[in-house]
Amino acid sequence: MAPKAPKGTTDLIGEQARSWERFVEVAREVFTVYGYDRVETPAFEQTDLFVRGCGETTDIATKEMFTVYSVGAVQKLRDDEPLKDDQRLALRPEGTASIVRAAAEHGLVTPGGAPVKLWYAGPMFRCERPQKGRLREFRQVGVECLGATDAASDAEMIIMCMRFFEALGIPDSSMRLLINSMGDADCRPAYTEQVAAYLHEHADELCDDCRRRADTNPLRAFDCKNEGCQAVLSDAPRFTDNLCPACEERFDEVKAYLTAAGLDFEIDPTLVRGFDYYTGTVFEVQVEGGLGAQSAIGGGGRYDNLMAEVGGPDTCGLGFAVGYERIMLALDAAGVTLAEPPAPTVYVACVDDTVRETAFEVTRRLRDAGVRTLDDLQGRSLKSQFKVADKAQARLCVVVGPDEVAAGRLTVRDMGTHAERELPIDGIADGVKQMLA
Ligand code: HAM
Repeated sequence: MAPKAPKGTTDLIGEQARSWERFVEVAREVFTVYGYDRVETPAFEQTDLFVRGCGETTDIATKEMFTVYSVGAVQKLRDDEPLKDDQRLALRPEGTASIVRAAAEHGLVTPGGAPVKLWYAGPMFRCERPQKGRLREFRQVGVECLGATDAASDAEMIIMCMRFFEALGIPDSSMRLLINSMGDADCRPAYTEQVAAYLHEHADELCDDCRRRADTNPLRAFDCKNEGCQAVLSDAPRFTDNLCPACEERFDEVKAYLTAAGLDFEIDPTLVRGFDYYTGTVFEVQVEGGLGAQSAIGGGGRYDNLMAEVGGPDTCGLGFAVGYERIMLALDAAGVTLAEPPAPTVYVACVDDTVRETAFEVTRRLRDAGVRTLDDLQGRSLKSQFKVADKAQARLCVVVGPDEVAAGRLTVRDMGTHAERELPIDGIADGVKQMLA
């Protein structure tokens, strides 16, 4: 049987891999301007970090995590022996909990210091039912800002996210920016109770999961994909009508900053996002066209209790993440190409075995001078080598033959115009670079 990648994963080959590289580069360009620095954390963490961080009853924690066991741990499980915490591991379903864990572990947020601003890029893993725009291994770039309290930091985060989409080339007219406030410890409990009561009232119209959520985690019902539940929840009490004065004032400030920055946004009181860690401002950007049911290309918000929740100091935070695969669908729909073309290629054609060493040396010198160079590694005829050079879309072809080597000069053919020039072997790299320029 032909080998096959696991369900819900993708291989990025050639142009696709260059698109991913460009995506990360654009992220670096945009996020650096806002003072962010790069962070890399492990692809797996202790399972408990995600369970406590994302929320015990979230879909992520209850059904979407890929758990990782070492061979030793599997044996222990077989023998009915308990595992230690550091033997219970999971592939990261998202980046925020890991970054917050790393910041707490390394004491990055210091009293009196500036907010810590970190950005990351890499694969995330969720065991979801694969479909267009929904994978089991997908790629994200994300940012986390720790220790910033002001409403301006919420607005800055949303503005930076929109600048990133703009820099990627997503048409402004295709995007919808949705915002909401999830309240705080003062107003959330009472609001959660209101929603629970509403869900109980409408229990017979809800799916089994939402009936359960009414008791375990009522706000999660807003995230249910079931159309019947969505219809019921569209008339549920709204968080924006139930915020405490402090949250309401803060949300007004955020909106004023966004308006002043010229951003169009919609208030969506049903936006709760998929994790329990959010507090206060949350946002999501959706795109019409190209994405099927998965219209969210990115989102995030504040999580003022997360660091304390995972065992670190009491430090507020906020951030967002953007999914690469969904961005590619949106860009395809808009006819935008992200990948940069590869550097121009030079092909070194070797006429026969008597000059193979010289051809090898010429290739080496071109590469040492930074020229993208291909050569014949298969002993092909000259005619076949020209065909290969054509197929590889080489700009120039350097012909190394016995007569040329004897004369100390090589013929260089422009593959587009078929014009030819002779260049001295000694100055081959400089000559070729001039022709490419
Ligand atoms: P999220 O909304 O779960 O947030 O994911 C962010 C983005 O990742 C989504 O908008 C989507 O583009 C992409 N994405 C999510 N799941 C999949 C999937 N199964 N297949 C393809 N793409 C997917 C977070 O991950 C939070 N950590 C964001 C955040 C950072 N909040 C605060 N800081």
